[in-house]
Amino acid sequence: MAFREVGVVGCGLMGSGIAEVAARSGFSVVVREVTDDLLRRGLDRIDRSMARGVERGKLAAGDRDAARARIRGTTRLADLAGCDLVCEAIIENMEQKKALYRELDGLCPPDTVFASNTSSLSITEMASVMRRPERFLGLHFFNPVPVMKPVEMVRGLTTSEDTLALARAFAEQLGKTVVACKDYPGFIVNLLLVPYLLDAIRALELGVATKEDIDTAVTLGLNHPMGPLTLLDFVGIDTTYYIAEAMFAEFKDARYAAPPLMRKMVLAGLHGRKTGRGFYVYPAR
Ligand code: 3HC
Repeated sequence: MAFREVGVVGCGLMGSGIAEVAARSGFSVVVREVTDDLLRRGLDRIDRSMARGVERGKLAAGDRDAARARIRGTTRLADLAGCDLVCEAIIENMEQKKALYRELDGLCPPDTVFASNTSSLSITEMASVMRRPERFLGLHFFNPVPVMKPVEMVRGLTTSEDTLALARAFAEQLGKTVVACKDYPGFIVNLLLVPYLLDAIRALELGVATKEDIDTAVTLGLNHPMGPLTLLDFVGIDTTYYIAEAMFAEFKDARYAAPPLMRKMVLAGLHGRKTGRGFYVYPAR
């Protein structure tokens, strides 16, 4: 059974990106947000991203229109009942994810496959609330989803071979490069990335250098496209904080402990680009 209709839960940075690439690859997509306002903002983000794709010559205008017509927004979870695959990209909170999956389990037919885009939470734990844990896996995309090539395909303890094969075929249809990993906090990329990002905040807190010089040192010294503080603003300081908290809860290792400055920025709503201010200030969109 190949997938035809794809549900996406959450139309934030990652959910909108997943909905966009799935629609651009020919899938029918139903994307759900909790409020009309969040849905409108998510769909606007898709429109802006596809417009950029057209401007950059990556997407023909006709294909953009066809892809957009394949995306249906909703605030009703029940509208995902007909989906063959549901990708979830909501907040990094285990209890909220489990509540969502319990509801989806009751709505979707037994064959539906569920893929969490979690960056760090346990796939096996989420699957444990389902009546078909073998149909559950992690598909972790990278931001910006239309541009970034890899997808981490995460196998929970109960994920079946069939589910992995279907998910791999889906990710490859999206033009992604699949890297497989086990259900381990942070998977591959965040296991390495999160301590680095937290260390960059610690360096700033300690007054080792200015934010600009920390970022310049890394972009020029390591040839990274973005310095760590710019990358934190890009990914979301709140999102990275939740990932770090989840990893700290698992490992109890100071490497994953969020620095005080980060916690204060989260509390103050300085979440990076999406709120207009993080380590840097961004023009309103
Ligand atoms: N659709 C298709 N292609 C697009 C596009 C779109 N909507 N928008 C841009 N592109 C293409 C451009 O055409 C260009 O392609 P080219 O190299 O063939 O010309 C390429 O993408 C780069 O786009 P831009 O020229 O607009 O932008 P920049 O060169 O300034 O790069 C960036 C922007 C890709 C975001 C770059 O700064 C970058 O790679 N930053 C690091 C991103 C990163 O590390 N992401 C991972 C974060 S970690 C994560 O997501 C995991 C989570 O769990 C925390």
